[in-house]
Order: sequence, then C-alpha cells, then structure tokens
Amino acid sequence: MGKDSITITNNATGNSEEFPLLSGTHGPSVIDIRQLYQKMGLFTFDPGFKSTASCESEVTFINGEEGILLYRGYPIEELAEKSNFLEVCYLILYGELPTREEYDNFVTIITHHTMVHEGFKDFIKGFRPNAHPMAVMVGMVGAMSSFYHDSTDVNNPKHQEISAHRLVAKMPTIAAMAYKYTQGQPFVYPRNDLSYAANFLNMMYSLPAEPYEIDPLHAKALDLILILHADHEQNASTSTVRLAGSSGANPFAAASAGIGCLWGAAHGGANEAVLVMLDQIGSVDQIPKFVAKAKDKNDPFRLMGFGHRVYKNYDPRARIIRKMAIEIIEKTEGKDPLLDIAMRLEEIALNDEYFIEKKLYPNVDFYSGIIYKAIGIPTDMFTVIFAMGRMAGWMAQWQEMISDPNRVIGRPRQNYVGAAKREYIAVDGR
Ligand code: ACO
Repeated sequence: MGKDSITITNNATGNSEEFPLLSGTHGPSVIDIRQLYQKMGLFTFDPGFKSTASCESEVTFINGEEGILLYRGYPIEELAEKSNFLEVCYLILYGELPTREEYDNFVTIITHHTMVHEGFKDFIKGFRPNAHPMAVMVGMVGAMSSFYHDSTDVNNPKHQEISAHRLVAKMPTIAAMAYKYTQGQPFVYPRNDLSYAANFLNMMYSLPAEPYEIDPLHAKALDLILILHADHEQNASTSTVRLAGSSGANPFAAASAGIGCLWGAAHGGANEAVLVMLDQIGSVDQIPKFVAKAKDKNDPFRLMGFGHRVYKNYDPRARIIRKMAIEIIEKTEGKDPLLDIAMRLEEIALNDEYFIEKKLYPNVDFYSGIIYKAIGIPTDMFTVIFAMGRMAGWMAQWQEMISDPNRVIGRPRQNYVGAAKREYIAVDGR
C-alpha cells in the first residue's frame, strides 16, 4: 500500500482496492473515493455529511476541536479586532487582503451598487404585510435574477464578479425594505456617505418625519457581527448554495436557496430562537428547570445557541460576540436581564456533566441576539442580518465551485430501503 493511499477491503468478496489519501493545508486527510463505485460497486453512507468533505476549498478553515476559525488563513480574532466588514468581504471574495487602492475601489463599487431597481418597491407589495422577513428575503433575492438578468451568465467571470458585488451591496437595502414593509413605513434609500453597517441602520430606522442619529457603537457592533458571520466553510446554507449552483443555476437563485436553508432553527434561525428561549426562561432562578428539559431525552427542547456540528470547543466567534454584548449593554442600557440569564445559563451549562461530556459550548448565536436587541433590531430580523453577513461567503464559495474546471453537478446517491421491485395491480384488483 502506498504511503498516501488507503486500502479498502470488501470482507464479503475479498476484493481490495487502493484509494488516494489527499492532504490539505490544515485538517485531517481525506480519502478520495471518487472511483469507489467504479472499482468496487459500493457507495458510502454518511447522512448529514459528518465524515464527508464535499469539495476542496481555499476560503475558510475551522478546527472544531481547538476552536480555530481562519478566513483565507487569517484568524477571526485578528480580523474582528483590526479589520472591517467590507475589507473582510474583499478578502473572502478575492483571497487576499486588499491594497489601499484595491480597498478604496471595492468600497466605491459596493457603495454604488446599494440601490435596487425601483421595480422592487412594487414587487414587495405582493407579500403579506405580516410576512416573516426571511420569507421576503428568499423571494426578493431570488427575484434579483429577473431584475439583474444581465449578470447571470455563470460561466462569464465578469458576470460572476458583478453578481457577487450586487448581492453583497444590495442585501442591506433589501433587508431594510423587508423590515419597513412590515412596519408600514416608507422605504429609505441608501446613503453613499455612510459605512456598510451605518447605512443599513439608517435604512432601518430613519423616518421622513424626524432625523435618525446613528450610534457609532451600534454601527461598530453590527460591523463586527457581519465579520463574524461572513463565512463558515461548508455549513448547511453554503452547501445549499453550492449544490443549487452546481446545476448552473444563476447566483441569485443559488443565494435565495441558501437563505431558505439558513432560516431553519438548527442553523441561522437559532439566534432568533435564543432570544425567544431567554424570554421564556424569564429569570435566573428558572434556569435549572430549562437545563433539565434540555437534558431530558423525551423532551424536544434544546438549549438554543448551544452545540455545533464542528465546534467541540468554545466557538471563537461566541467569545468575541460575548465581549461585545457586555460592552454594548454596559454603554447603552447599563443592564439587560436577558444578558444576566444568558451568562448564568452559560455558566451552569458549562459546568454540567451532560454538556461537558457532549462537548456542547455556546455558538455564535448565543450572544448575538443580545446585541441585536440592544441595537433595537426586532427578533425576526436577526436571521436576516446573518444572511447579510454570510452573502460574501456564499458568493466566494459559489465562485470557487463554478470556476472549478472539474465542476460536476452535485448529485448524491442513496441506500434504497423502499419496497423491492413489484408488479402493478389495477385498482379493482387490489
Ligand atoms: N441542547 C441539548 N442537547 C444538545 C444540544 C443542545 N443545544 N445540541 C446537541 N445536543 C445533544 C443531542 O441531543 C445529542 O445527544 P445524544 O448523543 O444523546 O443523542 C448530542 O448532543 C449531539 O447532538 P447532535 O444533534 O447529534 O449534533 P449535531 O452536530 O448534529 O447538531 C446542532 C448540531 C444542530 C447545532 C445542535 O447542537 C443544535 O440543535 N443546537 C441548538 C441549535 C443551534 O444553536 N443552532 C445554531 C448552530 S450554529 C449556526 O448555525 C450558526
């Protein structure tokens, strides 16, 4: 057997075949089983992809055991402290930190793509006014493929780039429109003199009747949250974007599919679920009751914002966000009972045998809701902001997939356990 290969033996037939072992920059080696079916007539079985690398990627690396997250090689802690969201977007999309000129040019491009086609104002009126903003986002982002059809040639690198710019630039505008629509308030146009985060806050809260003053701490906190959500390798929504895009579907359609996936409570919807949960807990003395519910196998209740498929250690993003949550509460409201409940809940869970044994730690969603609440963002907009941050990652991953010369449509196989082949019997004979 070669050093960089692995032999698989079928004990039933005695057939042995060798398969290459591939090594990346970091992380475990992967068994290249692309020839498994041809060589051995076998499939692998891995629902949920717990042991499967679905692609090669240069964008993001996570070491879940040690709690490490790198965007294009740069630790999340450094980016969170020293960079800003648009610079991180550039890094994720282009692979390198920009020079001053590249940065200024990118900011100009994104800033000048923030307006949406006026037709969106009519389009949004088709949604029920009480629609969840994620429902509106799925529809509006998908609809971008009709409004911006001129950048949907997926094999044209210029189109790929323009679509990515449009999606990153217009997400805050669409998100704020989704909010304003549910409030029955007029839409606010983007302002090119504001930063990405400040512009979003202005479009959310500004009213024609009175000026809105953007709190720089709120803009800073939001920018940080966007950095922390910008990418996270092959998570469910990113894999959805890649899979949807692998058929050659345009990036707006693929991004819309990703937003739909992100909505679920086990993924991006967890930030909303955390705040609902903290509200439900209500007071610190109720925590043990809810911890017991989370541990009870017969109770579907889980501690939202706890646990992660990859992190079996403290989510590094949660550590950064926790610090910001404390800072923003101290500087704005002074105190938030929900923050007190969250911190005590974390303390209790981290010292509880159940959570220790299962390696369940707070994830990025555990504290983000506290920050959103302090900024005044309504609960149902939390996942929308996650989607805003994640768009850069989705587009980088989509571009990586679509530009791969070896691209094939994503098409998993299955272990069929249904009825064996049988004969059709006409209805009167059954
Ligand atoms: N509360 C209580 N028990 C939990 C929790 C939790 N939050 N999370 C996992 N467990 C338990 C499971 O019941 C399971 O127990 P078992 O082995 O006795 O059956 C064990 O820990 C492993 O959990 P799995 O669901 O198998 O782990 P998986 O990797 O599939 O799921 C997930 C990870 C979905 C994130 C899960 O931890 C969860 O539901 N957490 C709550 C929702 C959440 O916060 N989601 C956000 C994820 S981060 C993000 O998307 C940004």
